[in-house]
Amino acid sequence: MTRTTHLLRLVGSLWLAAASASQVYDIPAAVSNRTTTALFTSSSSGLDAPKINPVNNSAFDWWYFDVVSTDPNSVASVVVQISGSFPNGTPFNMFVNGDGATVTADDNVSSGDWHGTGFKWIHTGNATYTIQVDAPDIGVKGTISFHSIAPAHYPCGPMVVGQNMEVGPRIGWANAIPDAASTVELTVNGTELAFTGAGYHDKNWSDQIFTTNITSWYWGHGRLGPYSIVWFDFLALDGTEYVSAYAAKYGTIIAASCESNSIRVRPTGQNATYPPHLSTPPPSGYHVTLDLENEGTLEVDVTVTEIVMDISEYTRSVGNMSGVVVPVGGQNERTVMGGKALFEQFKLTE
Ligand SMILES: *[C@@H]1O[C@H](CO)[C@@H](O)[C@H](O)[C@H]1NC(C)=O
Ligand SMILES: *[C@@H]1O[C@H](CO)[C@@H](O)[C@H](O)[C@H]1NC(C)=O
Ligand SMILES: *[C@@H]1O[C@H](CO)[C@@H](O)[C@H](O)[C@H]1NC(C)=O
Ligand SMILES: *[C@@H]1O[C@H](CO)[C@@H](O)[C@H](O)[C@H]1NC(C)=O
Ligand SMILES: *[C@@H]1O[C@H](CO)[C@@H](O)[C@H](O)[C@H]1NC(C)=O
Ligand SMILES: *[C@@H]1O[C@H](CO)[C@@H](O)[C@H](O)[C@H]1NC(C)=O
Ligand SMILES: *[C@@H]1O[C@H](CO)[C@@H](O)[C@H](O)[C@H]1NC(C)=O
Ligand SMILES: *[C@@H]1O[C@H](CO)[C@@H](O)[C@H](O)[C@H]1NC(C)=O
Ligand SMILES: *[C@@H]1O[C@H](CO)[C@@H](O)[C@H](O)[C@H]1NC(C)=O
Repeated sequence: MTRTTHLLRLVGSLWLAAASASQVYDIPAAVSNRTTTALFTSSSSGLDAPKINPVNNSAFDWWYFDVVSTDPNSVASVVVQISGSFPNGTPFNMFVNGDGATVTADDNVSSGDWHGTGFKWIHTGNATYTIQVDAPDIGVKGTISFHSIAPAHYPCGPMVVGQNMEVGPRIGWANAIPDAASTVELTVNGTELAFTGAGYHDKNWSDQIFTTNITSWYWGHGRLGPYSIVWFDFLALDGTEYVSAYAAKYGTIIAASCESNSIRVRPTGQNATYPPHLSTPPPSGYHVTLDLENEGTLEVDVTVTEIVMDISEYTRSVGNMSGVVVPVGGQNERTVMGGKALFEQFKLTE
């Protein structure tokens, strides 16, 4: 698999009983040789807390943040830790190893300090997270803030107790911030990278090796007119397709479902092979059909404008979205909405 998964596999955590008060998890850098336990059902708190205890050699527990510029002419993006691209498309991609981590969970939010890396994130209240970076070894310094504008959710629905947190077989997923008003203020080796955009934060985890049961997956998020959308379309090795659809409008959830007809994501344009194989190049776009329930169906064309990271198994891109809502019943005037997205595909088999 990719360096990405290896690096973000953080190790060992002190598992404390769930309670609504603040909880501190100390995660040592050494890999545990014990069997691990993963949490796959939501409880009354801890959406953004560690889910794996301890982290052994097959497990991972990962916190992910990104921001895509909403300026239609910019392909700037940032993903911590830490890759991104400048507005002109020049990518950078840095990995930092830590000496361990401390994650503090408060209700459903968290703060995290990756010791020895210069990276930490802080929940600063009022649905805002701030990432602080001071990493002279790789030449990166600054802040990235995320003011949430769309409610958190799990793969199959809103944030309620007793939800299944598996987005695919034994892959947990909790999306604390599906969309945020974000500000990036970084200096990367003396060059300023500053923009505002659509931010995003989730976490995923498993007690088994990531590649165990995945043929391919498409994931992405973006803002299209008044809609904040997140898509997941996941193919297990036996051909079973798992999906998760999310749309919020003006900060209210319109759709949050893992029903098989809730969403479909398929490659389009050049190199649109489905399912994708290790040897097939990434496609030039995707089509997303997202069921908005009473509002109708959102039909979105996503066009790749910049590939931010590309290795054979994994591609992360920034793109344009163009979409319409087809109302229930089909007719009515349709306004074409535009927006920006950040998305990825995994393909793990030939
Ligand atoms: C976790 O999810 C993020 C985005 O949702 C993705 O980029 C990353 O590859 C995932 N990591 C693993 C180990 O599944
Ligand atoms: C696991 O690690 C502990 C502590 O380092 C060690 O005492 C023990 O022998 C190890 N067990 C196995 C099965 O390797
Ligand atoms: C880690 O824990 C899982 C789940 O208990 C177990 O299946 C797996 O064999 C363990 N891996 C290692 C390397 O010990
Ligand atoms: C993306 O959208 C911008 C702004 O509308 C436009 O200038 C650009 O040509 C588009 N790129 C692609 C590849 O469609
Ligand atoms: C929280 O954020 C909202 C939206 O930006 C803002 O209107 C409100 O004033 C903020 N509240 C506090 C206490 O900062
Ligand atoms: C900054 O420059 C150093 C030294 O040339 C290099 O090792 C590092 O990769 C650069 N950092 C980034 C984020 O490109
Ligand atoms: C945390 O999430 C749970 C559902 O997982 C929910 O019942 C609870 O109300 C949330 N707590 C807060 C403080 O939002
Ligand atoms: C993969 O997922 C399928 C569908 O959920 C399941 O039937 C199968 O047992 C899983 N296989 C492995 C190797 O985990
Ligand atoms: C499609 O694949 C071909 C062959 O690898 C490549 O030359 C072409 O640039 C690809 N198209 C896109 C849009 O990536």
